Amino acid sequence: MTKSLNAIAQKLMEPGKGILAADESEGTIGKRFAKINLPNTLDLRRDYREMLFGASEAMRNYISGVILTEETLKQEAADGTPFRAILADTDCVPGIKVDRGAFPMPGEGGEKITEGLDGLRQRLAHYAELGAGFAKWRAVITINDIAPTRNNIRANAHALARYAMLCQEAGIVPIVEPEVVGDGEPGNHSMERCAQVTGDVLENVFKELRLAGVDLAGMLLKPNMILPGINSRERPGFEDVARRTVDVLREHVPAAVPGIAFLSGGQTDEEATAHLSAMNRIPNKPWPLTFSYGRALQNVALRTWAGRRENFAAARQAFAHRAHMNSLAALGEWSNERDRAAA
Ligand code: 13P
Repeated sequence: MTKSLNAIAQKLMEPGKGILAADESEGTIGKRFAKINLPNTLDLRRDYREMLFGASEAMRNYISGVILTEETLKQEAADGTPFRAILADTDCVPGIKVDRGAFPMPGEGGEKITEGLDGLRQRLAHYAELGAGFAKWRAVITINDIAPTRNNIRANAHALARYAMLCQEAGIVPIVEPEVVGDGEPGNHSMERCAQVTGDVLENVFKELRLAGVDLAGMLLKPNMILPGINSRERPGFEDVARRTVDVLREHVPAAVPGIAFLSGGQTDEEATAHLSAMNRIPNKPWPLTFSYGRALQNVALRTWAGRRENFAAARQAFAHRAHMNSLAALGEWSNERDRAAA
């Protein structure tokens, strides 16, 4: 069991590949669609995912795994081909978002606690039967004058550990995602505060994972990068962000973890790529670093698709470009010049 969990984790971290986060909940995908004036219908959600997963070259060359919602895991393309078969064709591991979202926590801080543990053991057994090789659970850590509180960090870390243990029992690799949110309100915190909170959160998460008996070799970590809040006036360079992020991870993430796959968290497409590439140019890191991006892989493809199947080819090209650039970043080989030349 341990060996196969580690084998899946290694496969997800294959050099030059990363994870496509396409697990937007119905509510979240609805917000993305609303921005381009599309209604949130089952058919459009299907078409959108069909556009992405059908970008065969990009999926085969740059994407190791895809995080899906339950709807998509069970869904079929318009011609009746199951999405799972399309992903298998390009050797992408299907993953499943298993949390049920982040809900308000009592208190003044506007903090959130992620729900979804009730009945999770049964759901995971079902997802394993459907072929899911890995799962995701996102904890949301808020930064403001009050937050994060010790209570909120502990509650989220504890839930992540219970989730991770249940995944491993089901033969599914847990992606443990404690996101210290940088693009929320008020978003004026400094980079240093992000570093301090992220370190504190990671410390607590690994403490709970160990207490729960989670096999660190059979999981992946999905953290935020160390960045100033979205409304801060600080403008660190790519190298500064890379160095600070790797420093914090080195201090708090055990070397036994087989890989780290970052979320993009509202960075622009180019920032998310540049930061990852800069981190991968730093030598002697104990774990491989790659992407597990949602928005930073999809932004341009979503706008190019615009709800029309006749735009599939152009949208797939846009997606392929972004995936290629992030693949280069996962190898530390991205540059602005290469990005422009390839576009
Ligand atoms: P973003 O890359 O858009 O932050 O999404 C990644 C993700 O899966 C968040 O849970």
